[in-house]
Order: sequence, then structure tokens, then C-alpha cells
Amino acid sequence: MATAIRVKDLHKAYGAVAAVAGISFEVVEGECFALLGPNGAGKTTTLEILEGYRDRSGGSVEVLGVDPAQGGRDLRERIGIVLQSAGIDRELTVGEVVALFGGYYPHPRDPGEVIELVGLGEKRQARCRTLSGGQQRRLDLALGIVGDPDLIFLDEPTTGFDPSARRRSWELIDSLRALGKTILLTTHYMDEAQNLADRVAILAAGRIVAEGSPASLGGRDVAEAEISFRLPAGAGLADLPPLGPARPRLDDGRVVLRTEAPTGALHALTGWALARRVELEGLAVTRPSLEDVYLRLTGGDR
Ligand SMILES: Nc1ncnc2c1ncn2[C@@H]1O[C@H](COP(=O)(O)OP(=O)(O)O)[C@@H](O)[C@H]1O
Ligand SMILES: [Mg+2]
Repeated sequence: MATAIRVKDLHKAYGAVAAVAGISFEVVEGECFALLGPNGAGKTTTLEILEGYRDRSGGSVEVLGVDPAQGGRDLRERIGIVLQSAGIDRELTVGEVVALFGGYYPHPRDPGEVIELVGLGEKRQARCRTLSGGQQRRLDLALGIVGDPDLIFLDEPTTGFDPSARRRSWELIDSLRALGKTILLTTHYMDEAQNLADRVAILAAGRIVAEGSPASLGGRDVAEAEISFRLPAGAGLADLPPLGPARPRLDDGRVVLRTEAPTGALHALTGWALARRVELEGLAVTRPSLEDVYLRLTGGDR
């Protein structure tokens, strides 16, 4: 697979503010990659540099093989950009605006089809100024894909959406990926990154603090498991069998044990309970959630 985006030691300062402080990552063709981070992390700045709309202070960037700072019309025709608010004439209808944007590209998709795809079929004749916030965002998405680009940039594509509009947008983004498009999206929603992205980079204060698949991010797939259950009536911590090197602690009537070897600990524990004919109420084995990892890595500043 060819590399669609290559970012090396990218820096961007706004006066004294280091918005992006030396980040590096690569996005492979056909991949959906998410930059996940809280407000002010530098996500939009990074995206705008990749789109060629903002200059950088240092580092190198390649998008579809060219430097977006130099990339002219050729690059523009191959990328689709969904801005947080596109500059459009709001007196035009949805159908007119999508057709107009399609006209900027050499091989646009059929405007009617695109409008259906984003779920605005019934709004085709409506003036843009009459759209709700969620419908406006779907129009933004339509404008980003009408040129049938190879690479699509999505800046917080579902911010402000209600849950069902978010689901529909996720399906739409999935269908773009199924068409083989490369997608770079930013989000501050962990579940969005988890559902959509093949790989995620967590950005905090202009730096990448973790990168990987949603399942392995921050090492959570290999992190210690936590076993917990309610202490059976009449039993004390001292009555439990040996459960490996870790010592269980009591937390409000629940026994909590962290272990790298949950299989053996569970075997000892359930054997002990069966022999005593007691139920281990509320027995659970958990690992850190993506949210735990995110809050730890971003300092919880959401
Ligand atoms: N045009 C600008 N001028 C000055 N500072 C900016 C500008 N745009 C963004 N910043 C600052 O750069 C940092 C990163 O902003 P941004 O890239 O918009 O983050 P995000 O998209 O992750 O919320 C923030 O501290 C923000 O205040
Ligand atoms: Mg932003």
C-alpha cells in the first residue's frame, strides 16, 4: 500500500503559541486515520496545513506525493475538504450548491446521488439558509465528496449532531472507506475514533501522546486486568486462596485485584468459590477503556 500522507516533525507556531510542536505520522492509502484530542490540541491546524490552507513553521509534509504548500490545482482536485463551515452563498438551494462545487472538479459525482448519500434528498430544493445545524454539516460533507476525491479530510464531522445523525454520518464515512477512499478525520469523541478509524493518534497540546489501533492504544490490550467481585458473606480477605503475586484489596465491600495473569487467578478464585458453594456476586474482569487511556494521556482536560 502506498503512503497517502507523510508528516515529519511538523511544527506550527502562532506567535508565541506552539499549536503543533513536532508531530510525525503516516497514513496509508485506503486507511481511515483519526486525530483524536481535546479542543486546542492542534487538530484543525494540522489538517489545514495538510490541505494547503495554512503554512507551517517547520518540518515536512507530503500529501499524495506532493508538498501541499506547493501543490496547485492537481492536488486540490484529488482531495475533498469538509470545512467546519464552508463559504457558500446561503441563498442558493442545496442542489445548486452541490452542482456548483462539483463543477470545480474534472470528474465530479452526480450531485443528486451525493445529496441522497448524505441524507438530504428531501432538501434538494431548500435554500441553504433554511437548513438546521445538522443538515448544514451534511451539506458540508456533500461538498467534500462531490468531486469524487481520493483523499478526504473531515474536521470534526459530527460535532453538534444528535445521536441518530451521528450514526448516519458514521455509516456514510464507512461507505466512503468501502469505496477505497483515504480518510483523515479529527474528532474529540472517543467512540467516533473507536468506531471509524483503523488507526488513531491522540493529540494533546500539539504533541502525539499515543498512536495505534483503537484496541491497542496506550497499551490497553496488554494492560493489567482488574478482577473484582463482592466478598461472600462470612468470608474475609484472608480466606481467599493465593491469587498470584498481586494482593487483593477491599474497596467498599468489593474485592479488587490487578493482575497480568487473570486466567490463573480466576481459576483459583472460581475453584475456591465452587468448593465453598458460594456465588461470586458481581464478578467482572475489565481492562482500561479507551476513555481511561485518553483521559490519562490528555491530562483529563476535556
Ligand atoms: N489563527 C490562529 N491564530 C492564533 N492562534 C491560533 C489560531 N488558530 C488556532 N490557534 C491556537 O492554536 C492552538 C490549536 O488550535 P486548533 O488547531 O484549532 O486546535 P483544535 O482543532 O484541536 O481544537 C490553540 O491554542 C488555538 O488557540
Ligand atoms: Mg478544531
